[in-house]
Amino acid sequence: MRKGEASSALFNTIDNQSAGGGLGPSCICCTVAEEEAIRMNASLKTFVARVPWWGKITGKLILAHAPVDYRIWKRLHLFEQGAMEVPTYAYQVFQKHFDQARSLRRLNNWIGLELGPGDSLLSAMVAYAYGASAYYLVDSGEYARAGVQQYRAMAKFLAEQDLSVPNAQYLESVNATLAACQARYGTLGIDSLRAIPDESVDFVWSHTVLQHVRRVEFLETMRELRRILRPDGVSSHWVDLQDCIGGALNNLRFRESVWESPFMADSGFYTNRIRYSEMLALFKEAGFQVDVISVKRWDRLPTSRSKLCKRFRDLSEEELRVSCFHAVLRPA
Ligand SMILES: C[S@@+](CC[C@H](N)C(=O)[O-])C[C@H]1O[C@@H](n2cnc3c(N)ncnc32)[C@H](O)[C@@H]1O
Repeated sequence: MRKGEASSALFNTIDNQSAGGGLGPSCICCTVAEEEAIRMNASLKTFVARVPWWGKITGKLILAHAPVDYRIWKRLHLFEQGAMEVPTYAYQVFQKHFDQARSLRRLNNWIGLELGPGDSLLSAMVAYAYGASAYYLVDSGEYARAGVQQYRAMAKFLAEQDLSVPNAQYLESVNATLAACQARYGTLGIDSLRAIPDESVDFVWSHTVLQHVRRVEFLETMRELRRILRPDGVSSHWVDLQDCIGGALNNLRFRESVWESPFMADSGFYTNRIRYSEMLALFKEAGFQVDVISVKRWDRLPTSRSKLCKRFRDLSEEELRVSCFHAVLRPA
């Protein structure tokens, strides 16, 4: 895709206008079911916390291949794609990244992109409130389940902060809200990125996403982000290197051929296992200049080195102890 319009075929409208409650008030049986779900979640969380890592992986492998809709897993807090449907969370996360960009350059009438929005597209409203003239949300599947009520809650929240919100008529549906924010949702991962014109985006951000991009697609994804970024554009990424099994390094136990097999990789706990230094090197290879804003490290390795597969066992302690980091990337 060259300069010009983004290909519309690769950006969808979403069909869950009433997900999360719909337009009307929720009925009493929904409220009771909701309370029951909350009680179940609390007991489930206590139970899950006690299960050893191998039990969690086995359980997730079985559940992930069961024919169950993502909404059910989401309700039970299993396999959910983050917490972006909560207005304050979406707002704070957006702001954390946006502040990095606006400390480096002025952003007027800017064009933005969130990679991996997960459960909601609420950041489109925050971007609108901060003056975006167009905004892309690109994920690898249609995971945005938040209903129109959450968009209305976000509108209320933004209004309370004295920020602009689309007129009430646009809050009648998720698609209308997105249209009012000049936002488009692409759910084909790298193919959606390919549909965006060269050097057309001012600000790109992602939050706990890059570690989930498939290893084989990682460098190409970063190259796409580099291609669409304007020469003075800024991108900001928070990367979480903990495993999705219990926040340790149990994902590093497995051989590459096992971990990257479709059976494992499609099971809801996949991370590409690219470690801190390697990821920084790949950012540079994709054409970025890298500034590391912060790094979090475990005090000691959460998983014994002797249990890791050889490729990771040989890495330095310093490298393995990195649990999360925040990097700002600009065209080199
Ligand atoms: C842990 S969730 C984070 C969601 C959200 N950013 C948040 O902070 O709550 C990871 C997200 O990355 C998305 N993702 C994984 N691979 C991707 C890719 N190649 N391109 C775009 N998004 C991707 C997942 O579908 C998911 O929505």
